[in-house]
Amino acid sequence: MKEFTKHILVTGGAGFIGSHVVRRLLINYPDYRVINFDRLTYAGNLQNLKDVDTAPNYVFVKGDITSQQDVNKVFSDYGITDVIHLAAESHVDRSISGPMDFVLANVVGTVQLLNVAREYWGDFQNNVFYHISTDEVYGSLGDQGLFEETTAYDPRSPYSASKASSDHFVRAYHHTYGLPIRISNCSNNYGSHQFPEKLIPLIINNIVQQKELPVYGDGKNIRDWLWVEDHAHAIDVIFHTGKNGETYNIGGLNEWTNIDLVRRLCTILDDKLNRPSGMNEQLIRFVTDRAGHDRRYAIDASKLTQELGWSPSIRFEEGLEKTVDWYLANTDWVKHITSGDYTKYYEQQYALRKS
Ligand code: NAD
Ligand code: TYD
Repeated sequence: MKEFTKHILVTGGAGFIGSHVVRRLLINYPDYRVINFDRLTYAGNLQNLKDVDTAPNYVFVKGDITSQQDVNKVFSDYGITDVIHLAAESHVDRSISGPMDFVLANVVGTVQLLNVAREYWGDFQNNVFYHISTDEVYGSLGDQGLFEETTAYDPRSPYSASKASSDHFVRAYHHTYGLPIRISNCSNNYGSHQFPEKLIPLIINNIVQQKELPVYGDGKNIRDWLWVEDHAHAIDVIFHTGKNGETYNIGGLNEWTNIDLVRRLCTILDDKLNRPSGMNEQLIRFVTDRAGHDRRYAIDASKLTQELGWSPSIRFEEGLEKTVDWYLANTDWVKHITSGDYTKYYEQQYALRKS
């Protein structure tokens, strides 16, 4: 049997970003065994990895990060040497309607992993516990300024509060027990395989189906968008060359108001679907704002760029077009992932926003 040099537990590897991280590790590091550990919630989908799941260095284990038994078992069955932790409940709107799921998965789940890693690794020879987090922990910006690694935490949604809490626990395990860690806080990701409840895939799919396009509030909230494969690249770089105990911000200096972004998608899809110019824009509806809606996120990633040499590879206009093409070519994937209760759930939520 092949001797692997590392046995990396990737939690949440069946989700959007996790599947891109798993794919990148499998392809670039055949000497590593990649153990994808995922509970397969509504957001997890093994179809995301069907192009690489026969790789000899890939293992999938269905399990729950909140279960001590599941986590202990995967560590001992596979001799885990490193963790890249992405598993989480990730959608802000769901955190508003049901915060407890976020406390369980994001806070309790992270602490469960930290406990098992600490016990299993003992004296921490060459191990890395890498926690993937969000820029949303820093709160909401005014018109000026960028989030830096030193920006004080100010989470404002149940989602960001749960991620902030998990970041604090990861740092606490580093300072208290000496656990070797890295943390990165990334801006909004876009690209293939994103569950269509998040803004970009939701708008693409609604346009395709000629359904109304919900824009929350005045549409002037700003997000800083990063191509998901650039995030996966940054994770690779930080995992391998980041310093023990350090935090790195990840972002592409790419700020868009939601309404401009939605309009851009309408124009791209007028063209690709051969619809008359301006037709898709007529689907836009300004609906009730998200409670506590953060106004602006924007990341300063200069530490990562200057210290570790990472930079984004693709311009937003190009990435957006590639993303649209991917969703148009993968309608079966969309159908599969939104089967079950999702469509009914979405229609109910939308009706509430419109009323
Ligand atoms: P996602 O919702 O697409 O995927 C999450 C995955 O975690 C799913 O496969 C799900 O099945 C799994 N999961 C959830 N609870 C679990 C549990 N208890 N045990 C095991 N597996 C469980 O999320 P994503 O957008 O890919 O985000 C991944 C990570 O990156 C999250 O930690 C998120 O906070 C962070 N992040 C996301 C973004 C973004 O724009 N999407 C930006 C910055 C950071
Ligand atoms: P989302 O993709 O949920 O990411 P996040 O809340 O983590 O930033 O939302 C991105 C932005 O788009 C956010 O400002 C909320 C807004 N939005 C809408 O206007 N309409 C929608 O239907 C959704 C899902 C989001």
